[in-house]
Amino acid sequence: MRLVILETSDKVSEWAAKYVMKRINDFKPGPNKYFTLGLPTGSTPLGMYKNLIRYHKEGKISFKYVKTFNMDEYVGLPREHPESYHFYMWNNFFKHIDIDPANAHLLDGNASDLVKECEDFERKIEEAGGIELFVGGIGPDGHIAFNEPGSSLVSRTRVKTLAQDTLEANARFFGNDISKVPKQALTVGVGTVMDAKEVMILITGTHKAFALYKAIEEGVNHMWTVSAFQQHQHTIMVCDEDATLELRVKTVKYFKQQEAAVTMHEIDPPIPGTNWKFSQENDVDI
Ligand code: GLP
Repeated sequence: MRLVILETSDKVSEWAAKYVMKRINDFKPGPNKYFTLGLPTGSTPLGMYKNLIRYHKEGKISFKYVKTFNMDEYVGLPREHPESYHFYMWNNFFKHIDIDPANAHLLDGNASDLVKECEDFERKIEEAGGIELFVGGIGPDGHIAFNEPGSSLVSRTRVKTLAQDTLEANARFFGNDISKVPKQALTVGVGTVMDAKEVMILITGTHKAFALYKAIEEGVNHMWTVSAFQQHQHTIMVCDEDATLELRVKTVKYFKQQEAAVTMHEIDPPIPGTNWKFSQENDVDI
């Protein structure tokens, strides 16, 4: 596992966007070779999307040969509802880039047969050749996508009833009225994300500090589903200083030293505020 600690959430957004850009450009996608990207919603990745849009407008990256698969979607929320993940993805990302909408896959929380919808989603991922890079965020209770505490760590895409903590955390998007938050969602499973070749998880803010501690300093535990990624061969957790507040000093020092030791490779433009550049290695052995 790689833990990248940056000063602020803005730097996390910038690092994440540059990492996605680098991965896609290095892959050299084309008509017979699509890059497959897993994507999250939430407030954390918003800055990453803004940066990617900017890089696209500057001509540094194209999404023409990229297929995306989103992690989750609420059940029963109309697509055009401002809090639906369809609305979020279209307005915050897809409409600003050159992706073919047919290649941007989101679960349909209004499908007549939700079980079939989930099975079809898994099949589409498989047909696309699997996910090259899955970007994710977490809830303060350590859930990834909508894999609430207690979810199976080998789960696949399915219907999930949301935990009280998640309803409370997401009420801010529904006028602070918890009764308006949908009670169910469709979500990729922990196993679905684990199948990706690489996973990058963004974690920012003091309210996620305990979850980050559970994610990396304690054992794999289905009550903190993000901890499963300790067992993925290529996981990168990118966090800000605030999110490290519950970690041991020696953990923070260790990972900072690891990053400083990452093979230095200049990228253009370099990332301000970091002493290190991207490794061309997929992972840092620890
Ligand atoms: C929801 C989503 C998750 C997301 C989480 C955190 O629960 N299902 O995929 O990671 O919110 O959101 P935020 O980034 O707003 O804290």
